Amino acid sequence: MPKDLRTFIAEVAEKRPQDIMMVAENIDPRFGMTAVAAALERRAQFPALFFRRSRGSELPVVMNLCATYERLALALGTTVQEMVPTYAERQAHPIPPTIVETGPVKELIWTGADADLRRLPIPTHNALDGGPYLTGASLVARDPTTGALNIGLYRHQIFGPQEIGVWFMQGHHGLYIQQAYEERGEPMPVAIIVGHHPAAIMGTISRIPGIGGEYEEAGALLQEPIELVKCETSDLLVPARAEIVIEGVIEPGAYKQEGPFAEWPGYYTEQGPKPYIKVTAITLRHDAIFYDVFAGHREHCVLGSLPRMGSIYRRVKQVVPGLKAVNVPAHVRMHCYISFKKRNEAEAKKAAFAALLTEPENLKLIILVDDDIDVYNEPEVMWALGTRFRADKGLQVIHDWSGPGGLNPAGWDYFPDGTKQPRMMPVVIMDATKPAPPNWFPPRAQVPEEQIAAVDLDRLLRPFDQRAALGQAAGAR
Ligand SMILES: Cc1cc2nc3c(=O)[nH]c(=O)nc-3n(C[C@H](O)[C@H](O)[C@H](O)COP(=O)(O)O)c2cc1C
Repeated sequence: MPKDLRTFIAEVAEKRPQDIMMVAENIDPRFGMTAVAAALERRAQFPALFFRRSRGSELPVVMNLCATYERLALALGTTVQEMVPTYAERQAHPIPPTIVETGPVKELIWTGADADLRRLPIPTHNALDGGPYLTGASLVARDPTTGALNIGLYRHQIFGPQEIGVWFMQGHHGLYIQQAYEERGEPMPVAIIVGHHPAAIMGTISRIPGIGGEYEEAGALLQEPIELVKCETSDLLVPARAEIVIEGVIEPGAYKQEGPFAEWPGYYTEQGPKPYIKVTAITLRHDAIFYDVFAGHREHCVLGSLPRMGSIYRRVKQVVPGLKAVNVPAHVRMHCYISFKKRNEAEAKKAAFAALLTEPENLKLIILVDDDIDVYNEPEVMWALGTRFRADKGLQVIHDWSGPGGLNPAGWDYFPDGTKQPRMMPVVIMDATKPAPPNWFPPRAQVPEEQIAAVDLDRLLRPFDQRAALGQAAGAR
């Protein structure tokens, strides 16, 4: 059975049943669904949420499916400890897609006035959002120069029953393609994929050099070719096993005010005139599941983090072969912790710069640690900083590294009249590694590893028996 959104939901339910919850009541997509996710977030809980019914639509909604590393690791069929090298390794071996005649995404075909976005349960996420948004939707477009298919996951604001705003960020291939059509004065056919296996979705978020290659990347991450079908109203190709595909066209010169929208750093930081799509068709499964990302919250960061970590791992490994692990923490995607077995003093800077060049816009703090530190255990990273870092030697501040502006509010100067000015952002590198060999450094306090491994806690430990433990002493009193 080829992998898709529902095979993954079934896998989560089977292998991590505590990780997915169902809401049977009829919930309003306007703040109702995100309110449930936010209430759970206050308890530091991030299960996937399956809303069986939503006001105004027949279709169920899944939200928060990609809100934990454990579930993303499951999507790659591996563990959290192994997911980053696995991602990097698969990136190196793309698997081309196959083209099929038809597929489940063609079960229903809505065209003309029937292609009405109000028939879909599209959530409004945060209090100041400009309206409902597609937050887990990847847009397919063809580079008019080379003919290559390019895909990226972009925020899409619903402007009306058949109009969708889209924001292509500076530097992303989506923007190059849209500008190329604009310069030619030609309409840009697009297709928006809503709902597929998280490995396929991550393939559309990966940093791939050059325009295109996302379907090959998705295949590599899925470990099987992704099946594609032709669109109804253009020659674009879309996944046959997607839940929903929205087809449309961006007319040259057509812009509308987009935003505000709560972005991944947890703020409303970008709005303005953006291109928009005129919907020409919607194709879907008869029982389509609407896939949504809880924007501005944990899921938004986690889903973006693993593809970034995979690419960083790949690049750093090329210059520092002793690389052990990379973590871009889920709760603060501007930080990057890198552990490696240091052979010489130059390696720390090489690792830091390779990471920064892979992810030049979003990182603002790199912490380098030795290979005995677990980068997924933040207190341990802080301990390394406390005991191995020396600011006079290990601290580098690189001024004017990224920007100006961006989604992080730290990239802006704000003024009392509500205006703002973009500014360049510095980056901080903290080298918390021990001196390279042959220098000596005190050993770490540790119980012999083989002794710990030999302990059978279940056999040894009993509930505390007060009488047995304190009975005599208590009697003597
Ligand atoms: C949840 C989520 C939302 C995103 N939203 C946007 C967005 O609105 N605009 C954008 O340009 N990139 C966005 N990205 C990042 C792109 O999907 C990613 O960088 C992708 O590789 C861009 O592809 P491209 O370079 O082919 O355009 C988002 C990523 C995630 C995980």
